[in-house]
Amino acid sequence: MIKAFETERELGFTAASTLAKQLIQNEKSVIALPTGATPLPMYEALLELIRFGIVDVESAVFFNLDEYIGISPEDPMAYAFYMNKNLFSHVPKVFHRIPKADTDSPEQEAMMYENEIRKAGGFDLCFLGIGVDGHIGFNEPGTPFDSKTHVSDLDPSTVERNSKEFGRKVPKSAITVGLKTIMRSKHIILMATGEEKSAILKEALTGRVDPAVPASILQLHSNLTVLVDQKAGAGLQDQRQ
Ligand code: F6R
Repeated sequence: MIKAFETERELGFTAASTLAKQLIQNEKSVIALPTGATPLPMYEALLELIRFGIVDVESAVFFNLDEYIGISPEDPMAYAFYMNKNLFSHVPKVFHRIPKADTDSPEQEAMMYENEIRKAGGFDLCFLGIGVDGHIGFNEPGTPFDSKTHVSDLDPSTVERNSKEFGRKVPKSAITVGLKTIMRSKHIILMATGEEKSAILKEALTGRVDPAVPASILQLHSNLTVLVDQKAGAGLQDQRQ
């Protein structure tokens, strides 16, 4: 199902409401979260729903999708820092895991992370953004569809783009939840905003299912919701509801 919105704010509210509905139905739900620019309006709306007492996140289990390798969680480039700043420092203590990427053994951390997700029962609801190269999480083009949580070498274009707001280069590798782990989620919400996502979104959702476009695997998910703003959804007119 594809839903198009006039503004990013409306999109964010719908995403946050979907999370609220999930937690109202099952307060112990396991939720996967992305970082980046796209989900910011969702986190803002979610904080409002929490403040109004509409949703309670205390019993939920949150896993982030990815983290850069080799920087401390306190580094402003770290996704741990981002999550704290934009969500978790504003809510009561919750169970939240993000890959520990300031470790000597990222491969081992990736394996442990996968096991923790499995032990938690997998994701009930997984939120995703999409990279302009078609990545989801940090599963870059060419990542096998059967990948579990692993160490990923980032595409130079991803490093370039994600470095822009920091004035220094983000790390070249990351730990990311794999495509198979994402695909096992009971419900996936893919969010995309802005003109720069329009072409890749169309390719991912209507083109060939091919590891060259990692997000194309989402075509095979039985419960996928795509939330777009007008610009990102420009190429998908026929598919929209
Ligand atoms: C980040 C993540 C990435 C981003 C993608 C889009 O945790 O999983 O796949 O969702 O790079 O980033 P933005 O939203 O900044 O365009």
